[in-house]
Amino acid sequence: MWKLTKKFANNGKYASYVSNSASSVENKVAHEKGNVKRFEEIPGPTSYPVVGTLYKYAPFIGDYNAEAVDKNAWLNWRRYGSLVRETPGVRLLHVYDPQDIEAVFRQDHRYPARRSHVAMLHYRLNKPHVYNTGGLLSTNGPEWWKLRSTFQKNFSSPQSVKNHIGKTDNVTTEFVQWIKDRNVSHNEDFLPYLNRLNLEVIGIVAFNERFESFTPEEQDPNSRSSKCIKAAFGSNSGIMRLDKGFLWKLFKTPLYRTLAESQEYLEKVSTEILMKRTHFFLHDDENDDSLLGSFLKHDIIDLKDVLGMMVDIMMAAIDTTAYATSFCLYHVSRNPEIQQKMFEEISALLPTKDAKITSDVVSKAVYVKSCIKESLRLNPVAIGVGRLTQKDFVLKGYLIPEGTVIVTQNMVACRLPQYVKNPLIFKPERWLRGSENYENIHPFLSLPFGFGPRSCIARRLAEQNICITLIRLIREFNIKWMGGELGIRTLLINKPDKPVTLSFIPRNE
Ligand code: HEM
Repeated sequence: MWKLTKKFANNGKYASYVSNSASSVENKVAHEKGNVKRFEEIPGPTSYPVVGTLYKYAPFIGDYNAEAVDKNAWLNWRRYGSLVRETPGVRLLHVYDPQDIEAVFRQDHRYPARRSHVAMLHYRLNKPHVYNTGGLLSTNGPEWWKLRSTFQKNFSSPQSVKNHIGKTDNVTTEFVQWIKDRNVSHNEDFLPYLNRLNLEVIGIVAFNERFESFTPEEQDPNSRSSKCIKAAFGSNSGIMRLDKGFLWKLFKTPLYRTLAESQEYLEKVSTEILMKRTHFFLHDDENDDSLLGSFLKHDIIDLKDVLGMMVDIMMAAIDTTAYATSFCLYHVSRNPEIQQKMFEEISALLPTKDAKITSDVVSKAVYVKSCIKESLRLNPVAIGVGRLTQKDFVLKGYLIPEGTVIVTQNMVACRLPQYVKNPLIFKPERWLRGSENYENIHPFLSLPFGFGPRSCIARRLAEQNICITLIRLIREFNIKWMGGELGIRTLLINKPDKPVTLSFIPRNE
């Protein structure tokens, strides 16, 4: 029987892979001998006064593409090696080696910090009548922890996540029926449908709200569903460019305006749902086990914090899960033998198509989960994880000063043969203990949900949702990939760069 490796870090509870890593011993010795090299000595592109390395994004003279951050990262790795210094307005360090990535996370402070969503933070702090803070994504320090510790239990505890399986399965079953009724074909891009599915799932799980986004009225571009999906994308897609830029601080640039309008729309929808629920709660709805229902059961919770959390959920849930599911479908539909193994596992767990997905089914769908893990290795939703250092430390003999922005380059590292065998091949078995193809992969190599107390608050929920979608789709259809190679556009999160073209052939079994 296969067992999915559990070596991966999980909310800070993990066993050290290398208890006393070679690099940390080396660093200690270097430090004691006073041999520590300066940050500026780390290899990296030439930096000029004022512009730093930002010129690399400039047309004609630069060789970076703002929508292909992964390619920029490859270029740097090839030119400079596994530690690369840059100064695009901030002091930035790219870290590629999993052992060094581990060393970075070992430095994490009590309140791990990221420098991201800076413009969104600015936007929210300018609306104190709506928000108390910038929300979980953009806030750092004790204020972040206050929010995180308030909401985390409802999001992450295994039992509360399992409670959402039935609702998620119902929505996904409706989706499968919709695909059949509508005869969805490979001439259409499947990604917008996955966006709608994930809006619907997060609507019911997080807010106990149906968006009915597959009805003809809600398919209209001016409907609430369509505008929510657009606003989530509008919020996320400019974040990275706004983080790098500064002009929006001087005047409202078009990118800043898109962010502000998108946030405003998500705020409006969240406020309407919240008002409806708080009114409803006067009549005490004990049966509402949505995230919002559980938030509102805390007596001390502040409604402005709840609203901020709702907007963060809308922003963080739709595109991430839809992109991750798209890439997983891409890989399994191009590998019929793997899809067949998934089908065998699924049909043993669900002997009939109308059998319900239970927590037992999800926990036993080990091969399906290994496919998700392998897909997130090759196509993570984020290229890596960001951290802002809060004290000086030594890495590979270099002093990394406090206030350095670190980007762990997991996506590039996951595709290097020194860390994974035949890295470009989709091979779920490499994660399965007991399989002859099992590999002892470094636990800090693939970190699709980040690491430690600042990791994705909804990791279990997201994995469960993708798993349920795959189980339902593969139980019902033999899925074929009809397009060419699928690459990514790095818009904070990695969007498929071409339409997701799938053919769904109904199964008779
Ligand atoms: C496949 C789907 C998803 C992926 C791959 C993903 C990935 C990530 C990553 C890499 C981070 C940063 C972690 C770190 O810095 O260590 C993160 C943070 C976060 N994610 Fe997710 N995510 C997914 C789905 C979701 C969903 C469904 C929600 C909400 C329902 C969500 C809400 C958040 C929030 C609020 C944070 C900020 C946490 C904090 O800073 O404390 N994510 N996610």
